[in-house]
Formats: sequence, structure tokens, C-alpha cells
Amino acid sequence: MTSSDMEYLTIALPKGKLFIPSAEMLAKLGYTAEGLSENSRKLVIANTEKKIRFIITKTADLPTYVEYGAADIGIIGKDVLLEENKDVYELLDLKFGYCRMMVAVPQALKQEKMSDYAHMRVATKYPRVAESFFHGIGIQMEIIKLNGSIELAPMVGLAEMIVDLVETGRTLRENNLVEVAQIHPATARFIANRVSFKMKFNRINQIVEGLKGLIDRESEKAK
Ligand code: PRP
Repeated sequence: MTSSDMEYLTIALPKGKLFIPSAEMLAKLGYTAEGLSENSRKLVIANTEKKIRFIITKTADLPTYVEYGAADIGIIGKDVLLEENKDVYELLDLKFGYCRMMVAVPQALKQEKMSDYAHMRVATKYPRVAESFFHGIGIQMEIIKLNGSIELAPMVGLAEMIVDLVETGRTLRENNLVEVAQIHPATARFIANRVSFKMKFNRINQIVEGLKGLIDRESEKAK
């Protein structure tokens, strides 16, 4: 690590649905920077007074930035962590961004048992997760990797099934798809680079403790 790397704490935030709640949660603890926005053209946004800098990444790339130490810490969905399988510390479940990874099919193709789907084509942004789920239940499938708008695939005959994240269920309903199996639930997680966690322990631990306090207060309010 260079001296500037040691001086600054670099925080990675993902573009997309988790950006705003992540940035807001950190801001409550005083970790923010002027001009920090998902649509910022600037990709590194620093707060020189607090000696922190934010980087904004594509969701799937975020664990890579943290694994290599280009970011010390970050916030990302458990779904992405499972798919990317990077060597990072998962320090905290932040208890927001609730969703679930599901297997879904068009209503008309719904079968009695999972084994009836054997050898069908599955479109997904999460090939590793899909592969391991079907392997786990002893069914061989053909996995087709896509980068988004997964629900389109069964509508145009690219695949019979999808593995995708479901939050409200609205996208599935609007495309006449039904859930046939849950793979895992997911929420936002706070992660850290392994070396940074040792070298910058006090700073990172202070954030972890602050975040824990916010989560506890939120769950008290919900009672
Ligand atoms: C995610 C997911 C579903 C949708 C689920 O897509 O892949 O398409 O949200 O949300 P819902 O259950 O509330 O309808 P995202 O908007 O991230 O875009 P993408 O499909 O291009 O990945």
C-alpha cells in the first residue's frame, strides 16, 4: 500500500438499486462526499477532510475491486457475492435490499416436479448460482448467461426457465412467469478487503460498529 492508500479509506458503492440506501446509511454516520451521486461522471469522489473516497462500480465488479484492495470496503448484495465468489470478508448483513433468488417459468410450462425440468435451458445473470443449485438437486440443465432483462428470454424462446432476483414479484407477474423454487434470500452486505481489515482495523471497525447501531435502532423502531 502507498502512503496515500494508507491515509485514505476507499469505499466502493454499487450502481443500481442499492446505491441510494447504501449512500444514505453511510451518510448517517458522517461518511459522505460532496457530489456523491450514482449519476456522477466522476468515478472517484473524495472527502479530503474525512480522508475517505468513494468509487462507484458496476454491481458485478464491486467484489473484485474489494478483493484486490482497490477499495478497502464496500456494500453489495449477497446475490452478487455468491455469484462472484471473491475472497473478501463479509462483515455485516445490513438488513436492507431484501430480495430472493428464484427459479421461474412461464405459467404454461409449469411442471409437477423439479426433475421434470431436466435438460431445459435456463437464462440467468447468475450462472454459478444457477449451476450449483441444479447440481445440488441432481438435475442437469443448459445454463445461458445473459446480462439483464432475463424475463425476455422465455418470451422469445431463448430459454424455458430463468434464475433471477425477485423483489416485489411485479416483473414476473407482468411477464406471466411463476416461481417454482427459491434458491436463496439476499440482502445488502458490508464487505472488506482482507489486508485493509488488518491495516485499517480501527477505521473499518468504527464503521462496522456505527452500522450495527443503525441496524439495531431500525429494528427497534420496527417492533
Ligand atoms: C431486477 C431483477 C428483476 C427485477 C425484480 O432487475 O433482475 O428483473 O429486478 O424486481 P421485482 O420483483 O420488484 O419486479 P433490475 O431492475 O436490476 O435489472 P435487470 O433485469 O436488467 O438486471
